[in-house]
Amino acid sequence: MKPLPTIAFSKPDTPSKGTVILGFSEGGPLGDHARALDEASGGAIERAMAVAEFKGKKKSILEIIAPHGLELDRIYLIGLGGADDRKPSDWRDLGGVCAGFAKSGAVVTVLLESVDKDPVDGADAAAFADGLRLRSYRFDRYKTKPEDEDEPKKDDEKPAKVTIALDDQAQAKKLYKSMAGVSDGVMLARDLVNEPANKLGPAEFADRAKALEKLGVKVDILTEKEMTKLGMRALLGVGQGSVRPSRIAVMTWKGGKAKDKPLAFIGKGVVFDTGGISLKPAGGMEDMKGDMGGAAAVTGLMHALAARKAKVNAIGAIGLVENMPDGNAQRPGDVVESMSGQTIEVINTDAEGRLVLADVLWYIQDKHKPQFMVDLATLTGAIMVALGGHNAGLFSNDDTLSDNLIAAGLAADEPVWRMPLGKDYDKMIDSKIADMKNVGGRWGGAITAAQFLQRFVNGTPWAHLDVAGTAMGSKKTDINESWGSGFGVRLLNQLVADHYE
Ligand code: BES
Ligand code: MN
Ligand code: ZN
Repeated sequence: MKPLPTIAFSKPDTPSKGTVILGFSEGGPLGDHARALDEASGGAIERAMAVAEFKGKKKSILEIIAPHGLELDRIYLIGLGGADDRKPSDWRDLGGVCAGFAKSGAVVTVLLESVDKDPVDGADAAAFADGLRLRSYRFDRYKTKPEDEDEPKKDDEKPAKVTIALDDQAQAKKLYKSMAGVSDGVMLARDLVNEPANKLGPAEFADRAKALEKLGVKVDILTEKEMTKLGMRALLGVGQGSVRPSRIAVMTWKGGKAKDKPLAFIGKGVVFDTGGISLKPAGGMEDMKGDMGGAAAVTGLMHALAARKAKVNAIGAIGLVENMPDGNAQRPGDVVESMSGQTIEVINTDAEGRLVLADVLWYIQDKHKPQFMVDLATLTGAIMVALGGHNAGLFSNDDTLSDNLIAAGLAADEPVWRMPLGKDYDKMIDSKIADMKNVGGRWGGAITAAQFLQRFVNGTPWAHLDVAGTAMGSKKTDINESWGSGFGVRLLNQLVADHYE
């Protein structure tokens, strides 16, 4: 993969070589060291600003190449907007906007001097660095040639060296270390989503989860034999048409007090969803390699919690299966017995995610008695119809958990929107011959899917996040250019940090 830039923090100084990025607050003035550069260049910066009418509007950019009188290659001014309309999360986006200036091998100094009444503190600078690094992520594992002839060959790519100059470096360093651990989790989730299904089956995914042991996470893998013993026939039915056997990975992080009940995070990990016998149409089916976005986020979250040594007990459990049509695949109309004892009539083999989650949710509440369970799943196309790609759907039986998730979503810039649950929706999945059926008809598809899951949480405080619209394929953002977004990692990390540590 393309090497990510290295980040360091230092005292403000007047840089003498490479690329300089100058943060400029709307309306100015230039900071002391920026002014020194301007003077040494005979006023090149002020002049360029006047000619381009650069005022420092948020995320606006002014490029000055080879400024006269200086050894510098380039100066970029980045508009920080005014102090009044700057949110803390803007710093991460501003860093993302500058990622393109940190090319292979470049030496980059970012000058964030305190230039307005909202001084740039360590948290701002750390978020800036974090955004720059997140935006630099590329999934280029399977590219053998650079996209552009002028770009260096893969083996010749060198990381850019980025130094962020500000007064409060100690705080910036400390916060950045923990943010970078979280972002490593985000990038792990992106990697897993971007990886094609021929390279990432249930066993390979389980191996990637197992690799978290090097961070101090305990990882147990359940094989089909063990799942059969536990009676997980809902999950096993989904994987039964695939030559690649199903797995469950249970990741445990113990950073809290021994007596504290764990928080549980559960992910749908359908490594590829053909729809099974209820086969999906060909157009766009390749996107179903990302039907494990929930499991990817849970794995990324466990990485994040362990990397920053979160003071919390947390369990991440992911159901890993492949949904294939086959002579041995399950049929529409089949009835399966779930681990809970409840029976399910499988009307549509393409509504498979809820069958997988049913057994994982039941298993986790039964075995671990968690404080709460939050599941993440690319569960329905219907949630994309309802909310598009900008909010994940939130369904919950608990108002406190729900409010905490909404607040965390806003703080982490991964918003969630609460959707309804209720008796009348629940009735829609009653079956004529079994306890329930796995689809509820044409309308309210995201809600009936959630109602189905609720039948397996056994009264535990629970929230379901339908991330079908947000985990993959969404619009590029200031901090992500890749298809897999890693959605959910920063949200749930924020939830834990703000409410449960
Ligand atoms: N994995 C899909 C949902 C999905 C669709 C995720 C598009 C991401 C993008 C899920 O397994 C599925 O097929 N859901 C069906 C349910 C239906 C058969 C009741 C759907 O949404 O059409
Ligand atoms: Mn499906
Ligand atoms: Zn699916």
